[in-house]
Amino acid sequence: MAGVPLPTAPPVADITTTADVELLVRRFYQAAIPDPLLGPLFEAAGIDWSVHIPLLRRFWERELLDIPGYGGNVVGAHRAVLDTAPFGRTNLDRWVELFDETADELFIGPVADHAKQRAAQIAAALATLATRRTQGANP
Ligand code: HEM
Repeated sequence: MAGVPLPTAPPVADITTTADVELLVRRFYQAAIPDPLLGPLFEAAGIDWSVHIPLLRRFWERELLDIPGYGGNVVGAHRAVLDTAPFGRTNLDRWVELFDETADELFIGPVADHAKQRAAQIAAALATLATRRTQGANP
């Protein structure tokens, strides 16, 4: 509505620097930790945030800015998570929803779009992994 300020200024720029990636990661977890569908899972998994945040930053730096550093296996890493903090499609849908909201709040452009696409792809792979686990398969 005219004259009514938006709660936050709309984003004007894309993700282009490591500081942008850091902001995206930190804001996402700031929203995810208190979330009822996600927070308890991170707690059950016993995440050490001082390790996890830099790892996530390196992951997204490689994905979005082509900066080498992350050498892990994202989907494989979640096998162990499923043992201690079982999650499913509802949790993954919420994860993606919050990630998209965070990205849209901060950035606009093709790199931000790519981030949302990659998050959705990985969530889909994790949903398959979680379903196979629930069905007793041991991939
Ligand atoms: C319900 C949803 C999810 C939960 C509960 C979850 C939880 C976790 C946990 C507990 C870890 C291990 C942290 C540690 O090492 O202590 C982890 C690692 C990670 N997660 Fe997720 N995750 C979820 C979805 C996703 C999605 C959709 C992505 C997509 C980008 C993602 C990206 C990562 C990455 C990059 C790592 C680091 C993997 C490594 O160790 O190399 N996660 N996650």
